Amino acid sequence: MDFRDIVNKQKQEAKFEKWQGVVLDYLKLVKQNPKITCLAPERIYNMIISGSTSEVDDSLKLRGYEDLVKYNFFDNKIFGSYEAIHDIVKFLKAAARRTETGKRILVLVGPVSSGKSTIVSLLKRGLEKDTIPKYVLKGCPIHEEPLHAIPLADRDFWQDQLGVRIEGTLCPVCQHRLDNEFTKDGIVNWDQLPVEKIQFSEQKRVGIGTFQPSDPKNQDNTELIGRINMAKVARYGETDPRAFSFDGELQVANGGIAEMVEIIKVDIRLLYVLISLAQEQVIKSPGFPQMYVDTLVIGHTNLTEFDAFKVDKKNEALHDRMYPVYVPWNLCVDDEIKIYEKMIKESGFRNIHIAPHTLKVAAQFAVLSRLVDSSKVPNKIDKMKIYNGEITESFKKSDIDVKELKQEGREKGEGLTGISPRFIINALNVALGTKEDKKCINPIDVIRSLRDNFRHHIGLDEEEIESYNNLLTGDKDSVSSEFKEVAKKEVSMAFLYAYDDQAKAIFENYMRNVAAYCRKEKVYDSITGDYRDPDEKLMRSLEELVPVPENSKTEFRNGIFVYKSTSLEQGKEFTYKDYPPLKEAIEKKLMTDLKPTISTALVDKTVTDPKTKRRRKLALKNLLHKGYCEQCAEVMLSFVAEVLRREE
Ligand SMILES: Nc1ncnc2c1ncn2[C@@H]1O[C@H](COP(=O)(O)OP(=O)(O)OP(=O)(O)O)[C@@H](O)[C@H]1O
Ligand SMILES: [Mg+2]
Ligand SMILES: [Zn+2]
Ligand SMILES: [Zn+2]
Repeated sequence: MDFRDIVNKQKQEAKFEKWQGVVLDYLKLVKQNPKITCLAPERIYNMIISGSTSEVDDSLKLRGYEDLVKYNFFDNKIFGSYEAIHDIVKFLKAAARRTETGKRILVLVGPVSSGKSTIVSLLKRGLEKDTIPKYVLKGCPIHEEPLHAIPLADRDFWQDQLGVRIEGTLCPVCQHRLDNEFTKDGIVNWDQLPVEKIQFSEQKRVGIGTFQPSDPKNQDNTELIGRINMAKVARYGETDPRAFSFDGELQVANGGIAEMVEIIKVDIRLLYVLISLAQEQVIKSPGFPQMYVDTLVIGHTNLTEFDAFKVDKKNEALHDRMYPVYVPWNLCVDDEIKIYEKMIKESGFRNIHIAPHTLKVAAQFAVLSRLVDSSKVPNKIDKMKIYNGEITESFKKSDIDVKELKQEGREKGEGLTGISPRFIINALNVALGTKEDKKCINPIDVIRSLRDNFRHHIGLDEEEIESYNNLLTGDKDSVSSEFKEVAKKEVSMAFLYAYDDQAKAIFENYMRNVAAYCRKEKVYDSITGDYRDPDEKLMRSLEELVPVPENSKTEFRNGIFVYKSTSLEQGKEFTYKDYPPLKEAIEKKLMTDLKPTISTALVDKTVTDPKTKRRRKLALKNLLHKGYCEQCAEVMLSFVAEVLRREE
């Protein structure tokens, strides 16, 4: 691999086509492509909706999302959170159209590590790669729109000519420049102001600003709206724009995004600055006229702080100036697993083997902890499965509408309390830390580590700990009871393959009897040498496991008999694995027959009987095929042995 080639290719891909000209040239560009003048919220809105699809797959439909619009923009970055994204896009649409709703401050509200910062940073990264070019007045401290140069008197004409709406006036610096450098003999040569193409960049402070309140008692608005540059005052005088640094975060954010981290902690005086910005697109720096700034103000805050803010009477005036969008935690196990996978990839333990079901067990617990009770489903485990698009017994029997279930949950604040992804990742880390040879982590480790972690978690009271313990390790309807079933099934399956010869024998025996039954013939008994009636007891013992009721046994037998004949006619092999209902029945029967054998073979690592030994080895090998490593495959075997022994 030649690194130089790769680097060159990457450089080529990242190449930025420069453009320089004056306002007059820019007018022509706008005429060709009016989109280049779009305002910040519209730019961001377009960026998200381009490439959106309304094609949802079956699993999403099962989860109640048949009407969902999928925004590919968030694909593989944000998992789940469809409702929150939908609300954000709805707001952006309003903001792009400058409706009253859209003139508020967008505030993402949610519990810790629900993905609020991640969503904002995706928008920022998106702007940096935006495909609609961005042109600005060259040398302008706030990178402003070149059309601002057009005198107010001529605006109507140019709006019609270009087919765009022109909003905003020149910043003090550009105005000063126009007055002094581009005005001669009373003629204002606004069309000659230089224009350049730029790229959004948070790093270079172009179009993306971030404000993080520091000391609550000592917040200074200069960080938002710039400051006087004392060194230059002596040269230019105090009211000269050249002596002022227009580099506050809101000025930097012109044309793009102003992120307000922990917006509720922002001093109330500064909040009012944000409000007039969202409302009227202006900010005011001392000594200068109001300055036009076009930016999407997007704040985020913790749920607890937002709740306190909401009930405080003195903030009332601010309430309807904000547009809260709730970003709850995920309620879908499969999405939650993807979050962990992503977090793991970004963290240190990427070389650790993660046994199958490990993340699932953790995700199940996290989701369960976030669910509220509902009268529509028997228990939280069922609700969890329904939210995950799984078809449970209760789901089949009732006419549960997933959408209604979710709506009920939303009204009760579902997803806003419970266990955070970070708590889970910490527990995974702890689980790793306690093993000497840290090569692998399995579901049993995780369950234990989660349980131990409750005690070390600040803010959990006794009652919560008890209910979490129940969800995690309760005898019934818990993560661990679910896992036991899964583990039993998985291990038994691994053994079944080792007992494939026996499965085949059961199958052949059954088929022989069925064939005779369908043909109304007798069966030849090789031991006695006699002909006898088909063995009803034997056939029923399998059929009851499907289950096939007594009154439809003939139909079932005929069905399978025809199926077999057709397969053979077509030259296809017919084994017990080819007929799913029967396959399941045979496996069940085998499992019951083998239960005593399996548990002894499982427990005893040191078995000497060569046949059992071989089967144990085969079972282990099967587990390896299913993604276990030698370490966790052994753990699974002894875990299941233990479970089976207790069941006896
Ligand atoms: N729905 C999600 N999709 C993808 N990743 C997520 C999701 N929710 C949380 N994460 C991951 O969880 C971690 C924390 O997320 P983030 O920092 O965005 O949360 P936050 O809501 O800003 O939290 P805080 O309130 O603590 O600031 C990140 O690694 C993020 O990638
Ligand atoms: Mg955050
Ligand atoms: Zn300017
Ligand atoms: Zn392993």
